[in-house]
Amino acid sequence: MPPLEMLFTTQLYQARPKGAKAVRLRDDLERACVAIADGDSAGQAWCREHAYQGYTSYASLDDLVWRDPIIADLAATLDGHVATFARALDFDLGGRPLALDSLWVNILEPGGMHAGHIHPGSVISGTYYVALPDGAAGLKFEDPRLQHMMAAPPRRANAAQLNKNFVEIAPKAGTILLWESWLRHEVPPSRAKQNRISISFNYNWPIAAKQK
Ligand SMILES: [Fe+2]
Repeated sequence: MPPLEMLFTTQLYQARPKGAKAVRLRDDLERACVAIADGDSAGQAWCREHAYQGYTSYASLDDLVWRDPIIADLAATLDGHVATFARALDFDLGGRPLALDSLWVNILEPGGMHAGHIHPGSVISGTYYVALPDGAAGLKFEDPRLQHMMAAPPRRANAAQLNKNFVEIAPKAGTILLWESWLRHEVPPSRAKQNRISISFNYNWPIAAKQK
């Protein structure tokens, strides 16, 4: 077999900060997520109305970074990881670093899932995993070229990861997962007995200031 070249790759960024500070941040974030959910009656009502199995602050709170210093700590950590990922992607940002645009808490109850979607209007999206009990799903990504594969044969069950049409990542608690926002993904149904807690976020590319 001659060497093959890799073209148009889809890169996924995974990091799991180690050390006492990282452990403390995760513990504090778990408490913060539960407190945010308990105190957000508008969000709870939204979840009931939309049959969300658990709680998400997505539709109700857009100021968590200012509201909670622990979330602000997480955001500061994420900034560094997103900048590293942007460099790995060779983004030419013209001196305007990607900036946090939105961040929300998700508490998925046993059986809860989130159907396939992309994050429109953003450049980098990601999730920090706060609690992933045994049986909780990770994140399942879809090959962005899938709609072009009208006549492509199916892949073997044991296909290499880079040849699969769907790849499920199973992060551990404390993991930061980043991907480009156009990459479609879903959370398969959770088979865990406890809640799956995560914090999701979007980074966008600030527009240049107008020339005077
Ligand atoms: Fe998502």
